[in-house]
Amino acid sequence: MNTEYLKITGEHYNDAEVIDRAARVIQNGGLVAIPTETVYGLAGSALIPTSAEKIFSAKGRPADNPLIVHIAKPEEAETLAYTCDAYYKLAERFMPGPLTMILPKKGIVPDEVTAGLDSVAIRCPSNDIAHKLIEASGHPIAAPSANRSGIPSPTKAEHVLTDMDGRIDMIIDGGECDIGLESTVIKLTDDGCVILRPGAVTEEMLAEVCDVVTVAKAVIEPSVAAEERVESPGMKYKHYSPKADVILVDANMTDFVAYVNANSDNKCGVFSSNEYRTHFTSAATLITGEHPSARDESKSLFHLLRKADEMGLERVYIKLPEAKGEYLALYNRLIRASGGKIVKPE
Ligand code: TXA
Ligand code: MG
Repeated sequence: MNTEYLKITGEHYNDAEVIDRAARVIQNGGLVAIPTETVYGLAGSALIPTSAEKIFSAKGRPADNPLIVHIAKPEEAETLAYTCDAYYKLAERFMPGPLTMILPKKGIVPDEVTAGLDSVAIRCPSNDIAHKLIEASGHPIAAPSANRSGIPSPTKAEHVLTDMDGRIDMIIDGGECDIGLESTVIKLTDDGCVILRPGAVTEEMLAEVCDVVTVAKAVIEPSVAAEERVESPGMKYKHYSPKADVILVDANMTDFVAYVNANSDNKCGVFSSNEYRTHFTSAATLITGEHPSARDESKSLFHLLRKADEMGLERVYIKLPEAKGEYLALYNRLIRASGGKIVKPE
């Protein structure tokens, strides 16, 4: 298959023309990779069963891991799912944006999209290109992250090209994603919600709207057994992993530097702020920012994990963040990427 690569602000295409062509691909059952505010998504019509099948096959995704359905406006969920007051309360505050809600599904959503579950994940992205494409196609859009299954999610169009060239119809290059980690996924309960996957909409932000917010146990568990029953199938798979081994180090900055220096050779890398780069004597530094905030570290994570592989590194050291607040999403992706490998220097 020939994959067309279109830059939304390029010289040759004006925005409306690119969106129009992509919308036709979606309507005809094809796949288009699109930017969203979180990560690039691999978009196909959520109403055409064969589009979902193509998504699973292009990604090499396990058949029991359901897709998120993207809509342009919160009320469009009505045709796809059974909504409730809590849905609208949360939608008013967080949609459009990086929040996905699991709702009981209606018959119109094919089993191919939800992997046979009786629920459907609904998200309303704020990215302008994603939003316009949903509107122009007139279809709700099923879109997982546009990476090959198991490896770091794509936050730039180049990442998608590396993974998907020749496997999908079109890639829209809309620049780097703002957030860089996938949306927060929640399940609604009688008195609040449960976070199944943490993201930029944090536990604390949800608590401003919901009475009770809990975090599913699997979110911070270093590894989830394959046979374990989890509320969100995506929780149990190896995820976000580069070829290089990711080693998380649970230590303060001084001990982290000492540990990395004592255990590195020229095949090792370390995630570092620009400020600390000169402290590392043998590991190659992968720079997360000048004085990186949680947002900066989140935004650079997947790009740097991919870069580690491009540099041919065999091992990458990362200082373990705390499992709370804005760092919870980062913590969750890191323990998955590392396969639970956490060292605590004496
Ligand atoms: O930010 C995002 O959410 C990105 C962009 C493209 O929108 N999408 C994304 O999709 O991360 P994906 O497929 O990589 O992750 C979807 C997660 C998986 O962990 C999946 O198991 C969970 O959502 N999920 C989807 N439908 C579900 C359902 N009905 N019940 C429970 N979990 C569900
Ligand atoms: Mg994914």
